[in-house]
Amino acid sequence: MFKKLQQKWGVNGLNMALIITTFALGGSACARIAGQLLKLISLEKNTIWWVIYILLVTILWPICVIIISFPLGQFKFFKNYLFRIWSKISGKTVENDQKKNNFAKKKTKLAIFASGKGSNADNIISYFKLNQIADVAIVVSDNAAAGVLGIAAKNNIPIMVLSKEDRLNYASCIENLHKNEVDFIVLAGYLKKIPASLIRQYPNKIVNIHPALLPKYGGKGMYGAKVHQAVIENNETVSGITIHYVDEIYDHGKIIFQEKCEIENGETAESLANKIHFLEHKHFPQVIAEVIQK
Ligand code: GRF
Repeated sequence: MFKKLQQKWGVNGLNMALIITTFALGGSACARIAGQLLKLISLEKNTIWWVIYILLVTILWPICVIIISFPLGQFKFFKNYLFRIWSKISGKTVENDQKKNNFAKKKTKLAIFASGKGSNADNIISYFKLNQIADVAIVVSDNAAAGVLGIAAKNNIPIMVLSKEDRLNYASCIENLHKNEVDFIVLAGYLKKIPASLIRQYPNKIVNIHPALLPKYGGKGMYGAKVHQAVIENNETVSGITIHYVDEIYDHGKIIFQEKCEIENGETAESLANKIHFLEHKHFPQVIAEVIQK
């Protein structure tokens, strides 16, 4: 259940623990304050006492959680959480209220660039369907036969296949990204180099996942099984995943996240690829959510 909530709210394990602590402390604080207030008017514990008590708790609870969320660093989460509750009670949709007062954050529109099967893209699409953080607005590929295009079609997501000409300056791609109001780009197995023209349009808003622990085993031509093969041939004892910002050099931008896995005796490129995919599916959507919420 916690895992589902974590996914829905787009928070990591530590933040989840702090959010639950805020709920618990807020709940007990407002119950205590309401009890103390009722003692002041020395009312008998009858039905009226309970009605007033519940009313007081309802009024005090949001105030208590907001106050407690400050020192626990969860103010932003609770501000949006209470806003969503208020939207439900008042019958206004979050979207309407967003337009009116810009209080809650607008969903980020993602573009996923991929060249192959698209298991990461599939996983990212499913993850963001469950929460209010982002939507996948378009899937871009350089390969008309890429499996990722079928995944996009299944999810009714617009696609764009970049021809060789399109990739000369990415002008039509940039135009299409703007048309789809894309704010953030995720490279999930995209094999072509991202040009400066596109990076300039999305500074610090393009992330890539690499199936090894950069800065080792990166660079031009280092993708898929070639990476795992090189890692095994060099008798490494660990490999892993790297999520990083994209700059003009292959696999070079600032590292955001890494996670390791062990290489066992008799490990093959295929078995290592499975371990890496497991880590990618576990962490990539969550890291994207954290980066876009910064
Ligand atoms: C992943 O291993 C990723 O690290 C690399 O390309 C692979 C894409 O796999 N950049 P999939 O197409 O998402 O299954």
